[in-house]
Amino acid sequence: MKETKIILSEREIPQEWYNIVPDLPKPPAPPLHPGTGKPIGPEDLAPIFPMELIKQEVSSEPMIAIPDEIIDIYKLWRPTPLVRATRLERALKTPARIYYKNESVSPAGSHKPNTAVAQAYYNMKAGVKRIATETGAGQWGSALSFACCLFGIKCTVYMVKCSYEQKPYRKSMMHTWGAEVFPSPSDKTNSGREILKKDPNCPGSLGLAISEAVEDAATHDDTKYALGSVLNHVLLHQTVTGLETKKQLKLAGEKADMLIGCVGGGSNFAGLFFPFVKDKMKGQNIRFIAVEPTSCPTLTKGLYKYDFGDVAKMTPLLKMYTLGHSFIPPSIHAGGLRYHGDAPLLCLLYDEKIVEARAYTQNPVFEAAQLFAQTEGIIPAPETAHAIKAVVDEAIKCRETREAKTIVMLFSGHGHFDMGAYDNYFAGKLEDYKYPEEKIREALKDLPKVNE
Ligand SMILES: Cc1ncc(COP(=O)(O)O)c(C=O)c1O
Repeated sequence: MKETKIILSEREIPQEWYNIVPDLPKPPAPPLHPGTGKPIGPEDLAPIFPMELIKQEVSSEPMIAIPDEIIDIYKLWRPTPLVRATRLERALKTPARIYYKNESVSPAGSHKPNTAVAQAYYNMKAGVKRIATETGAGQWGSALSFACCLFGIKCTVYMVKCSYEQKPYRKSMMHTWGAEVFPSPSDKTNSGREILKKDPNCPGSLGLAISEAVEDAATHDDTKYALGSVLNHVLLHQTVTGLETKKQLKLAGEKADMLIGCVGGGSNFAGLFFPFVKDKMKGQNIRFIAVEPTSCPTLTKGLYKYDFGDVAKMTPLLKMYTLGHSFIPPSIHAGGLRYHGDAPLLCLLYDEKIVEARAYTQNPVFEAAQLFAQTEGIIPAPETAHAIKAVVDEAIKCRETREAKTIVMLFSGHGHFDMGAYDNYFAGKLEDYKYPEEKIREALKDLPKVNE
């Protein structure tokens, strides 16, 4: 009998995170100081991150041991199941075999606690009393609130205003875990006040909320900052998903033909596919497909340049695909995919053509999400639904070519707090934003001048 869920025991939770840096086809471009334009050193990051995380950010060790205290907490929901989506396959009449790695089973409902727990742990070890962060959809803010609560650290979350209004219960979740939450732009920081002066109705963006959280951390001695995506150490922590998936595929006797994930900053997708990159470089025929919204098409339409990670130009300059740090995307419901840049490690692999990317508008994405809910049961987060749309398209292609390919997707989160978005979809109120060409052209004019 074929199993639906491929389940590992707690003993099989990875004991080490996988660091892709030594396996990259070329060394990553260094982050640059926003003031001097020179490569930054660990001491430049010390005001906002604890040293252990900085070491991980710049590490070239192939594997990094996961402390027992973190594994103990991972055991609350890890290993996560790899599920065969047979009902979705049947509905699509496809010969493809579809699997999803279900990260929605974590306490916060997404993949984000994989890094939140690690980051809160290293901050606690360094004696940090409070962590400030931003959140888009509210998934990262909830994950960090949960993790901080377990380690007895205070948590302050700047939540992108349009999500704050669309998802009041994400805020309640964060309050339940003891965090404080402000809509961004807020009047708590200079960066927030500056934007509010220009546009009191600004819907906010991740880039702006990052500026607020970084400013909060930089101006308070007992406070550090945590980022839920983009940075090397975040992607490193997320590799627990790909490492488990590798073992699970082996148990199922499968070899993946393609790995698919949605991309906001790149962490869930990177976590899934990084542990497979070496196999592809050795000649295995495997595709990695990144999926983003047409309204924020970072990989498909951005430039591969150094840019700031935030609106207020406080973060180091990162070499990444970017739409320009001043770009504020339309308020789509996949709040977690509204970021102007992407993780530099993912961007390097995209530039090297190891990864491919595509973009979709909202309505077809929600149509795929509803099909998934009606076949597999779980209601996907709008972000996750982008990956599902790509899975559906690839499975339909397999139907046409009669190929029984193995498609593996990272199911990054459930949509239980996104039902307002589903209601808008059912009522025909979701706008299919086109690529906002004019706004992006304007924002790209603001890219910093860097000698590369
Ligand atoms: C459910 C879910 N999936 C995906 C993302 C995108 O982030 P990343 O690309 O870092 O995984 C988010 C971000 O908030 C999210 O909440």
